[in-house]
Amino acid sequence: MKVIVKNGMIATESAVFSGDILIQDGVIRAVGQGFPAEDAEVVDAKGCYVLPGAVDAHTHMDLDVGIARAIDDFYSGTVAAACGGTTTIIDHMAFGPKDCSLWHQVEEYHRLADGKAVIDYAFHGVFQHVNDQILSEMKEIAEKEGITSFKIYLTYDYKLSDEDTFRVLKAAKEAGIVIAVHCENHGVIQYLRNEFVREGKLEAKYHPLSRPARAEAEAVNRMIHLAAMAGDAPLYIVHLSSKEGLAEVMQARRLHQKGLGVETCTQYLTLTDDLYEDPQEGLKAIMSPPLRKAEDGAALWQALADDQLDVVATDHCPFYFHKEKQYGADNFTKCPNGAPGVEERLGVMFSEGFMKGRISLPQLVRYCSANPAKMFGIYPKKGCIAPGADGDLVIIDPNVTHTMTKADIHGASDYSCYEGLELQGEIKTVMQRGSVIYRDHTFTGSKGAGQYLKRGRSVLAEGK
Ligand code: URP
Ligand code: ZN
Repeated sequence: MKVIVKNGMIATESAVFSGDILIQDGVIRAVGQGFPAEDAEVVDAKGCYVLPGAVDAHTHMDLDVGIARAIDDFYSGTVAAACGGTTTIIDHMAFGPKDCSLWHQVEEYHRLADGKAVIDYAFHGVFQHVNDQILSEMKEIAEKEGITSFKIYLTYDYKLSDEDTFRVLKAAKEAGIVIAVHCENHGVIQYLRNEFVREGKLEAKYHPLSRPARAEAEAVNRMIHLAAMAGDAPLYIVHLSSKEGLAEVMQARRLHQKGLGVETCTQYLTLTDDLYEDPQEGLKAIMSPPLRKAEDGAALWQALADDQLDVVATDHCPFYFHKEKQYGADNFTKCPNGAPGVEERLGVMFSEGFMKGRISLPQLVRYCSANPAKMFGIYPKKGCIAPGADGDLVIIDPNVTHTMTKADIHGASDYSCYEGLELQGEIKTVMQRGSVIYRDHTFTGSKGAGQYLKRGRSVLAEGK
């Protein structure tokens, strides 16, 4: 199958230029001009930007959080991703049954995704406890399954101690594996949540107060130092949300810490904690870390403009507002944490980031496509427009203005946190390996067409 994407303004991680893209058998063969169009399907991108398919390095499809299960499975969640220009996800696994092996969840996640995902996908492993057996499984899984990143949590029931965290970092450094970390200080959060509950302060507005920015900053600081003491172990901080957390990252950057990758998410750039003021509407935005102040978002945008962060992801983890989110109606601590966002990310970042002049188009490509691919060992197959890369493309018309509304998007959830946001630029066409999977507001892909990606080494493991 031969496809030519013609007349577009091609945006890569380093440049924007006019040209055509020739795709054959799913792979980009050439980027240039004047390719013979016989026997080819021609996709006209005149007046539009053509970007590499976006990579979302942080989703939670079908996540079992104990009190509920995220309502997008690997079918509905990847349809949503595809319609929003994301052609690859790297999904964070649930912990699994208490004391289970790391292999248990790898097998479980293949069962959840196989035959369902409509776009290409990979997994991050997760630790719930640490011992010699678990550490040797980590290495085995990296080699056999290409799962070259594992997550640890510093909060929630399966938080790791400093000693176990250090053990994991040492083993990861030796094996060239990335450790992704949810950074929040558990003790402070427990204390504040208990106090709010005791005082009857149970509305959504107490959620952000129970998880202060300094609880994130302390944990970011701790992880940076532990990783440095483990020999600059490859460390990836997920969902950085605050200017205080960012200050810790900047300090590590100044000290030239190697192997440090940092992710923020669309919501921390574009939404603020005033959403929690309404006790009902606030439930929609209960997530961890919580939304912060406008000044936090401004600091994160500045860090993106200055190339100090690496990735913008989503932490997509949706629940129904009218069902699971209502568990928190009388007590915010009972509300399942998480919100949808996989479909919204690229459109929001294009409009709020590029069209509003906060970041350049190559920066947008770096944060949403190239860098997540590099951080997680799938570059240049993914995140790249060059010969040899997969024919994963997004065509965006910058001249169309539209309003984000749940009615127009595809995930299972009954709300979007971005409802009513005016967007400049619209995703027209999405292609995966040369096939059109979304065109003119309609999903055209097929269930099970997504391929599992065995990943290679991260640039973080190479001491980036
Ligand atoms: O609120 C969040 N982040 N929900 C997803 C589950 C997690 O990893 O915390
Ligand atoms: Zn998450």
